[in-house]
Amino acid sequence: MIPLVSVNRLSKSFPGVRALHEVQFELMAGEVHALMGENGAGKSTLMKILAGVYTRDSGDILHDGQPVEFMSPREAQAMGVGIIHQELQLMNHLTVAQNMFIGREPRGRLGLFLDEDKLNAQAREILTSMHLRLDPRAMVGSLTVASQQMVEIAKALSFDSRVLIMDEPTSALNDAEIAELFRIIRQQRDRGVGIIYISHKMDELKQIADRVTVLRDGEYVATVSARDTSVEAIIGMMVGRTLTDVAPTPRTADKDTGEVALEVKHLTAGALVKDVSFTLRKGEILGFAGLMGAGRTEVARAVFGADPVESGEILVHGVKAAIRKPSDAVAHGIGYLSEDRKRFGLATGMDVESNIVMSNLRKFLSLNFFLRRARIRRTASHFIDLLSIRTPSATQQVGLLSGGNQQKVVIAKWLERDCDVLFFDEPTRGIDVGAKSEIYKLLRSLAGQGKAIVMISSELPEILRMSDRIVVMCEGRITGELPAVDATQERIMQLATQRETLKAA
Ligand SMILES: Nc1ncnc2c1ncn2[C@@H]1O[C@H](COP(=O)(O)OP(=O)(O)OP(=O)(O)O)[C@@H](O)[C@H]1O
Ligand SMILES: [Mg+2]
Repeated sequence: MIPLVSVNRLSKSFPGVRALHEVQFELMAGEVHALMGENGAGKSTLMKILAGVYTRDSGDILHDGQPVEFMSPREAQAMGVGIIHQELQLMNHLTVAQNMFIGREPRGRLGLFLDEDKLNAQAREILTSMHLRLDPRAMVGSLTVASQQMVEIAKALSFDSRVLIMDEPTSALNDAEIAELFRIIRQQRDRGVGIIYISHKMDELKQIADRVTVLRDGEYVATVSARDTSVEAIIGMMVGRTLTDVAPTPRTADKDTGEVALEVKHLTAGALVKDVSFTLRKGEILGFAGLMGAGRTEVARAVFGADPVESGEILVHGVKAAIRKPSDAVAHGIGYLSEDRKRFGLATGMDVESNIVMSNLRKFLSLNFFLRRARIRRTASHFIDLLSIRTPSATQQVGLLSGGNQQKVVIAKWLERDCDVLFFDEPTRGIDVGAKSEIYKLLRSLAGQGKAIVMISSELPEILRMSDRIVVMCEGRITGELPAVDATQERIMQLATQRETLKAA
């Protein structure tokens, strides 16, 4: 059988970075082909070349055995290549339907004005076929990250692609949404579509992939069968070394000896923070568990002053704090690492070092120009080493780093700020297996230094292994608190689904 797509000896460099070196890859019709590799391995670059976003330096790309050359995403689309980008590329000020059909909107009868009704009807048809309850007229900027990701997927499907590229499509989806996406992927595969699937979630491999290709440092390592290869073997190929894992938090003594760093009392804000109270001690990691949309991010945002609070009190080191905006929170030593790095975390147009020192500029501004430059440079290279951020230099624009490495820059930025209380919202989203254990080690060492840490995570195993204590939320309320010793996945899930109406009954 002739492959749908085949890639031979493909190379691509950016200034200072050899992103791909003589890579090979092959996609058959009707297969789900997973592409794996650490942050910065070259996965997104390879996909962007296949989708006409970047041009290659050398090598061949064949479709059905014929050489192709795409000079733009539009040309690739015309040849049936659809891509869901890792960093969502939607326009916040346009509706769902407008985003799905941007550039190819149905025109009115005279071809002069847009036919909004027709547009919405077409969008609704696709959304319904995906079992999505999204209003085509809703502004994309008002949607959650998960819904935005679904809109990107709907958009790619609307092109009737023969080749469908999904670059970390599930990073913001919950289990039910992932199951729905997998149903759609299998449906497309059975129609003969070739699907390239990128993810850092190893358990997804076994569920959805037929074959796996591994890249390391921009080079091809191997292509193997997903069914016949163990996850450990694939990780081994990705990292080229054995990983030292972080031991789970010892679950013996209850850590309530540390002094209380943060106390939140009866906090109410918007629809998803209802009468929330909790304490956070120095040196502890408090896990926040719950389903997507339970209100965990909203609690963090309310404490951080990013969203208005209706009632309740926040005490920092026992003293009542008036927090109305993020800068108030920062002045009280509270940091928040957003789950949505693009919207809240990073200035993607600025370079790595500016982003790292940005939230703490005052510390540097007191110095003269030359000292300041040197100090900033030294600080940046310290964090680049500490977190193994893959970048050609400290002056590289952050937007040009791979997704996982951008996430590390957000972490560096808050570490530099030296806060006492840190909210980590989905800190390992989009982070490869190796870097994940680095981040776990880092959280542990921060707690060891006496920082008070809240870790919001949708991955239960992560919550279980990292937390000293676990708070569970459902629909804006705290439904339970568990010491790590008593916590199990079942117990957490029970609390995470304990809805107010059920409790009353
Ligand atoms: N437009 C660009 N300009 C400069 N360097 C780039 C650009 N795009 C990617 N790179 C670099 O190329 C390398 C490969 O990046 P790529 O985004 O392909 O990695 P990835 O495998 O998708 O990683 P992740 O898992 O973090 O998403 C990285 O070192 C990255 O910094
Ligand atoms: Mg990527």
